[in-house]
Amino acid sequence: MLTFIKNISSLCTLSSGNPIARRGDEMQNITEIKNGAIIFNEKIEFVGTTEEAQKRIVEKQLKIDKTIDATGKTIIPGFCDSHTHIVFAGDRSDEFARRLRGVTYKEIAEEGGGILHTMKATRKASLEELVQAGKKLALSAMKYGTTSIEIKSGYSLTTEGELNQLRAIKQLKKELPLNIRSTFMGAHDFPPEYKNNREKYVDLIINEMIPAVAEEKLADYCDAFIDEGYYTLDEAEKIFEAAKKYGMKIRTHSDEMADVGAAGFSADIGAVSADHLLFASDKSIVKMAKSDIVATMMPATAYFIRMPYAPARKMIKAGCCVALASDCNPGSSFTENMQLVLSLAVINMKMTAEESLTAATLNGAKAMNLSEVTGSLAPGKQADFIIANVNSYVDIFYHFGINHVDEVWIKGKNIVKNTSEFSI
Ligand code: NIG
Ligand code: FE
Repeated sequence: MLTFIKNISSLCTLSSGNPIARRGDEMQNITEIKNGAIIFNEKIEFVGTTEEAQKRIVEKQLKIDKTIDATGKTIIPGFCDSHTHIVFAGDRSDEFARRLRGVTYKEIAEEGGGILHTMKATRKASLEELVQAGKKLALSAMKYGTTSIEIKSGYSLTTEGELNQLRAIKQLKKELPLNIRSTFMGAHDFPPEYKNNREKYVDLIINEMIPAVAEEKLADYCDAFIDEGYYTLDEAEKIFEAAKKYGMKIRTHSDEMADVGAAGFSADIGAVSADHLLFASDKSIVKMAKSDIVATMMPATAYFIRMPYAPARKMIKAGCCVALASDCNPGSSFTENMQLVLSLAVINMKMTAEESLTAATLNGAKAMNLSEVTGSLAPGKQADFIIANVNSYVDIFYHFGINHVDEVWIKGKNIVKNTSEFSI
């Protein structure tokens, strides 16, 4: 069942160079093929020029079931959004309207709103309600080109509630074609019941939540919000030690509100990814550059809560493996649109188009331990890609604020179809 897409005006494969992740200068290499072609079933069989593909079809007597002409189109790997909180209940549009009138995100959190607002609604939600809420955002993310996504719990902060969120993510894994990774984040905030007894809540995470999550095999990762006013390095370390014993890998929310040394700590403990990094220190950046960790930045968060952007140029110059993600959540970044994230990255974090594409595809996959199977268009990897209705990948950035996705293919199947068709 081979499909052959030919005459692709701009095919960005990221297929030459390191197949697993790119750091520093290597992020500039996206391997663009003009008049490209791709042959695939569930996995990619061949990428190259149309001429080379036609030769190969004859030589190897490949049986092509479907041929698609992609003249005037661009193909890039599907977006790998490695940081989201899309399974939640409730509505924080009132808080957003207040922020527009001048109240800050921090002030709302200190009043007991913010994460705790979503917590109250999420605790009350049924499994089915959470599945439907997550599905709506996941489908929308796919329309904008996302093919792999990480989803966290962390809006219940009770054992049963966290399990409920993670079971909803498990259900999404069953129902959707997306590549999905799940993360347990009981350490997203301290629930009001434990506000004056943090130690007891950390104990609950370690002794009750983590074993229960592991028992049902609900999480690939454990995450904690390590920041001023949230979890300390010591608390995070204890939680992560327990999570590792149960086979979970580690990822962190690091230095989003202030520099607490969380990014460097994350590199030291072998975390897969340190995320946010708005205030990451030079020392932490050097530690990240010297380790295998992915430094994940989420410019839509800085934009949405009016914070300074993370120092992307500094990290790339230092040689970090940089990824871009949406952080889609109801408080600090309510967008599932990775094209918007790319726009913000090139203009406000001064990343190049090529670096941004690498960060949102191959390096995002690496941040989910998925880059052996997806994130670039190379033989043997899954056929996960976007057909964009533009002549060149540069146009995705140049013509900004619109959805360029025409089609999305995941594991060789056309999941999102012809978004540019009208019945006029
Ligand atoms: O990643 N930083 C912590 N958590 C989320 C915000 C969650 C919320 O406001 O609901 C974030 O930005
Ligand atoms: Fe987050």
